[in-house]
Amino acid sequence: MLEGLKRLEYRGYDSAGLAVLQDGGVTNVKSVGRVANLAKLASGKNLTGTTGISHTRWATHGGVTDANAHPHVSSDGQVVLVHNGVIENYVAIKKFLLTKGYTFASETDTEVLANLIAYHLAKEPAAPAPAPGASAPMADASSRFLTAVRKTLLHVEGTYGIAVLSPAHPGELVAARKGSPLILGVGENEHLIASDVSALVSRTQNVVYLKDGELVHVTGSGFTLSTLDLADVSPVIDQVTWSVEDAELGEHPHYMLKEIFEQPQALENAMRGRFSADGSTANFGGLNLTPADFRIIDRFVFTSCGTGWHACLVAEHLIERYARIPVEVDYASEFRYRNAPLDRDALFFVISQSGETIDTLAALREAKRKGYKCMAICNVVGSTIARESDGGIYQHAGPEIGVASTKAFTSQLLIAAMFALYVARMRDMSFSEGVEFVKGLKQVPDLAARTLKLAPQIEDIAKRYSKFNDFLFLGRLDLFPIALEGALKLKEISYIHAEGYPAAEMKHGPIALISEECPSVFLVPKGELFNKVVSSMQEIKARKGLIIAIAPESVELPEGLADETLRIPDCHDAVLPILATIPVQLLSYHIALARGCDVDKPRNLAKSVTVE
Ligand code: M6R
Repeated sequence: MLEGLKRLEYRGYDSAGLAVLQDGGVTNVKSVGRVANLAKLASGKNLTGTTGISHTRWATHGGVTDANAHPHVSSDGQVVLVHNGVIENYVAIKKFLLTKGYTFASETDTEVLANLIAYHLAKEPAAPAPAPGASAPMADASSRFLTAVRKTLLHVEGTYGIAVLSPAHPGELVAARKGSPLILGVGENEHLIASDVSALVSRTQNVVYLKDGELVHVTGSGFTLSTLDLADVSPVIDQVTWSVEDAELGEHPHYMLKEIFEQPQALENAMRGRFSADGSTANFGGLNLTPADFRIIDRFVFTSCGTGWHACLVAEHLIERYARIPVEVDYASEFRYRNAPLDRDALFFVISQSGETIDTLAALREAKRKGYKCMAICNVVGSTIARESDGGIYQHAGPEIGVASTKAFTSQLLIAAMFALYVARMRDMSFSEGVEFVKGLKQVPDLAARTLKLAPQIEDIAKRYSKFNDFLFLGRLDLFPIALEGALKLKEISYIHAEGYPAAEMKHGPIALISEECPSVFLVPKGELFNKVVSSMQEIKARKGLIIAIAPESVELPEGLADETLRIPDCHDAVLPILATIPVQLLSYHIALARGCDVDKPRNLAKSVTVE
């Protein structure tokens, strides 16, 4: 369990705990801080049981304290439980349980679950003994414990991924999900349950992805799946396609740096097998749509959160420019409540690296509820969003462990460019333009590898600029989302205030921030907007602002205008956002390091946000 928790550390947490059934009771150990603290505490406890649950907590209800850490034990000591998610009606449940004599030791919403299961367990009649000569009933049919969990969940509003034990039922473990991911690993002589494949993959590659509303009941002789309304479910055992080594740090000092340098490979993987034999377009088998379906689409709606939302903005530019179909982009967290009127023939897309972000999942469900076909661009195979969408495109970028998304983002940009090409070729793009486009895309892995050679120059710049507490990132059209992404990366891992703006918009307000203390990072395009962006740079220079320019090799910047210039390779226009991203990733990484920040475990952040 400790190994599993260690492998989940990257997701962000503030406390950790574990409970083991042994000697007829529960040994529960928990502590604020790192898993290493927990391991130290646990080593003094002589843990001998073979059934246990463990958890890392990212605080929602109640501060970061030992008492609020999971596992939580019911006040009668009969139930112990770990929980991801939020129980929205916990206040009403708590009031009810107080009247029944149950007490509470934490400020969490989770503790009501432990007590409510205990309440139902106490009420549940013992199974009648089998008649003489009759075989014992199936464990499931007679499991008071499973029934008590099921009855509890019928009263719960909110989201959960739970694992529950009872010292009175030592041979059983019940887990269930609604809105929070849960995966069963089927190992050799063991079963493991986790919220993320990376916690299991060192023990088994055979996994069952639970669906919302499902429970798994694990006993010494195997497992069964069922639904809240008592239907049996036949398990589908999937194979995890990556190995434990893919998720390990190797020689690299940080996951973020490892993943930045994995980008050429991740980009190659995103394209593999996805170009037509005549080299003029892309193919996406997983979309489950025919060219005739595409002909009637009159709008795409893209939604996502965080970095994925920036990828949506780039997709908007590329699809509108090359395929000439309008695209609307919305934050998933806003879309789900906005009740936006949608065109009749819109096609809905979500982008999510993890495939588990609750806001994005909710947006997908809302669009499906309204009857729209929904596609997903996801990295994690088998994730909830991937499974609930009507079709989609897997990124194949490999596990992304760093909290700051890097290789997943550039792979999303590449898929967006390929998708723009795919739709454009069904509309007005000619064969020869298509061939040029494909050639441009195929160069991306090599060009990304060349861009990565900027690392030493960027490290040097970062050391000199890490003293500043404000940054602007400026770009236009499809480089504006890269400005937003640069600002987000810097905020996330170095805690520096940074803002991304369309370069020309800067003079309508943000220019007031400009001084010798607020550098601007410019993403310089080629073509018709080059001179306009140079004018924006002049406006900054005139106000003594420092400028870091990220510009294609072939453009000529006025002498002395930029204080630092990072040259990225010339490329097809649709590829420029990808190459321009790499320097901003490296800049954030090195600035964060220079400021002594914990790059892979930035404060307050979780890798995938499975609460609203
Ligand atoms: O897994 P997802 O792509 O759905 O995650 C969405 C955001 O939470 C994520 O991109 C977040 O903004 C990252 N920390 C960005 O680096």
